[in-house]
Order: sequence, then C-alpha cells, then structure tokens
Amino acid sequence: MIEVEDVYFRYPNGVEALKGVSLTIKNGEFVAIMGQNGAGKTTLVKHFNGLLKPTKGRVLVDEAETTKVSVATLARKVGFVFQNPDHQLFCETAEEEIAFALKNFGFKETIIKRRVQWALNLLGLTQYKKISPFMLSGGERKRVALASVLAWNPKILILDEPTIGQDYQQKEKLRQFILQMKTQRKTVIIVTHDVEFVAECNPRVVLMREGKIVADGEAKEILTNEEVLTQASIVPPQIAQIFMQMPSLQLPKNIIDVYEAREILLKMLRSDAK
Ligand SMILES: Nc1ncnc2c1ncn2[C@@H]1O[C@H](COP(=O)(O)OP(=O)(O)O)[C@@H](O)[C@H]1O
Ligand SMILES: [Mg+2]
Repeated sequence: MIEVEDVYFRYPNGVEALKGVSLTIKNGEFVAIMGQNGAGKTTLVKHFNGLLKPTKGRVLVDEAETTKVSVATLARKVGFVFQNPDHQLFCETAEEEIAFALKNFGFKETIIKRRVQWALNLLGLTQYKKISPFMLSGGERKRVALASVLAWNPKILILDEPTIGQDYQQKEKLRQFILQMKTQRKTVIIVTHDVEFVAECNPRVVLMREGKIVADGEAKEILTNEEVLTQASIVPPQIAQIFMQMPSLQLPKNIIDVYEAREILLKMLRSDAK
C-alpha cells in the first residue's frame, strides 16, 4: 500500500529530516512509528499523503508515485490526523467540521447526516456537536479532527500522536477502533511516544532515529530490545521492565502484554506450590 524507496528530505532551512528511509507497508497492516522528538516521524508520514515530496527517492501510495498524483486524489485515500488538531479545524461547530470533507467529496446529504452522527457518537462528541471546536479541550479537539477523517472512511489512516490529551477510556476506544479497522483491511499508521499504548495494541513497530529507521519488527521484539530502545530514547513498557529486572527468576524477556505476564506468573506460583 505504501512504498518508500531510499527517501531523503531536506526542509528549506537546510535541516535534513530524512536520510535514506526505505519502508514497505502492506494493505491492512497496523504500524506504529516511534522515536524521540525530531527523529523525523512526522516528516516521514507527511510523505504518505503527498503533503511533502522527497528531495531524493520515491514514495508510492497504492501503486502511484506521490509526485504524479494530485493532492486531492491522495487526500481521498489517505486520512491524516495531525499532531496539532488546530492545523485542520476551521468550521464553526464540531458537526460542520465533520461534514466539511464529506461535502467536498460529494457525498449525498442523507449520507453526510448519518456519517456525521456515527462519527460524533464513536468519539463521544455528540454533546459538543453545536459547539465551536475552539471552545473544546485539546483532547476533544483532537477527537473532532479524528472524527472528521474517520467519517469519510479512508483506505489509509495516519494518526500523528493520537493519544496525547486522551484519558484511559478514550485511548481504549481508540484501540478498539483501530483493531476494527484492521479487520476491515484498512491500513493504519500511528506516530506515537506512548509505549504503553503500543504495547496494548501490538502493532508492527518502526523505530526512527535522526532521520533513519533503526529497527522494524513485532512490538514484542522491539519494545523489549533494550539496546535498540536506548538508541531511540524509549523506555520499555512497565510490564517488560519488571520482567527484565528479575533475571534470577528466569522469566521470558519479551513480555509486553499484562495478561500474558499474569499467566506466566500464575504458572510459576502454581509450580512453586507443588
Ligand atoms: N517545517 C519545518 N521546517 C524546518 N525544519 C523542520 C520542519 N519541521 C520539522 N523540522 C525539523 O526536521 C526534523 C524532524 O522533525 P519531525 O519530522 O517533526 O520529527 P518528529 O515527528 O519525529 O518529532 C527536526 O530536526 C525538526 O526540527
Ligand atoms: Mg512529530
């Protein structure tokens, strides 16, 4: 679905934000892009909807090179929720905000109504539908931005730091939603610092550092690989830290799932009791 071939990107001020990135993301994959601030994560994903074009190398989205298709065509396929929702909110009410893109894409009025209602409900925003997004909290504005993208049901969904400002319940909803997208064979890419959220979602993890990809693999492997994580200034999930810090118990070191951890500990306790 997305093909990144040896991409370099330099901002007009001379900052080299990407230095030879190659990456393939298949249809239906769920990928978390992680790495410290300034690693180039946002710059990379902005190439996926054509907002940025490589200085060198190529990016293909759904088999078309991003330099050769219109931004409008890409926008229909790729839903992008920015790190800062204020960059994409401009309507008078949350409801109008969500309807805006649907109108632009030429959906029928009845469908727009239904989709807007669905998206408001999904993101717990129904009570704010007549309120200006700018009266809402940061986390709520982020949900309005997300709702406005989900409403048009894009093939590829990119979420830049979606968990910032969200409480546990909202994060859990987001996680459930992403899993649902997965069953619908949608491609979901999240950029995040939130190691606990990633541990719970269990996506493929791509780790970036200084404009390059330094690791790529299953969440279980990457999030428990201390050497690789240190390079990217990421701390392992808490459950993994506990398992790592008790070497004398000879626990497996690649555990990021609380339920799996519980099973292992219970088994150990049972065999001790015998
Ligand atoms: N619009 C811009 N103009 C100039 N430099 C930028 C711009 N946006 C980001 N950068 C720089 O590019 C590098 C990568 O930034 P970014 O992709 O935002 O990283 P991340 O999302 O991983 O925090 C950083 O050094 C950042 O300062
Ligand atoms: Mg960023």
